[in-house]
Amino acid sequence: MIPTAHIEVKEKGTIAKTVLMPGDPLRAKFIADTFLENVEKFNNVRNVFGYTGTYKGRKISVMASGMGMPSIGIYSYELFNFYGVENIIRIGSCGAYTSDLNLYDVILANDAWSESTYAKVQGGYDKDVIEASSELNSKLEKISEELGIKVHKERIHSSDVFYRESFEEYKEIYKNHGCTVVEMEAFALFHNAKVLGKNAACLLTVSDNLVTQELTTSEERQESFTNMMKIALEMAE
Ligand code: HPA
Repeated sequence: MIPTAHIEVKEKGTIAKTVLMPGDPLRAKFIADTFLENVEKFNNVRNVFGYTGTYKGRKISVMASGMGMPSIGIYSYELFNFYGVENIIRIGSCGAYTSDLNLYDVILANDAWSESTYAKVQGGYDKDVIEASSELNSKLEKISEELGIKVHKERIHSSDVFYRESFEEYKEIYKNHGCTVVEMEAFALFHNAKVLGKNAACLLTVSDNLVTQELTTSEERQESFTNMMKIALEMAE
């Protein structure tokens, strides 16, 4: 049934088949303002802005996911299940668990490991790793080569907790599960895609490094995340 509880769109075709999902509504606005033409804003509910436009003449949408798995869980489910969306590409920031990764490196998630109960509660999935769509990933990899932007293909950690009492725990997650970066959404997005027969991928830019404690500022982030955006935007159809 549309409109859904969290997206105020009355017609299916308003949202493109491929949606880019940054966490931050202002980043969704930045992408629409900077890169898209013929832009129509389709969502304002809770200030979770969504836009449809064209990139190099091809249709694409961009809508914020909010932070964390419960939030992206809601928005991605509604987009996939009620609005005919086929592909969601999360574009977000991440913290690095290794000094081998530098600030602003671009990561393409092979899969996401999580201690979250999201997939178990949502659909009885009882493992702790979920893969990204291999089809979307090969397209994104090919695009990144064409654009000359290096991407690191990694297993990522989707965490429910940003501020842990035990900061050092990340070392165990790196060692035991092979996750090289941490973010907070991909595991739920990949799960929803899987149960609904849709496709999801996740591109990330390193915004902080837990080992070296280097950080980016929010202005720097806005600017320098354009590499990841340019890769994802080429998925417009
Ligand atoms: N933890 C979780 N999510 C993040 C981080 C982090 O350190 N950095 C960017 N997104």
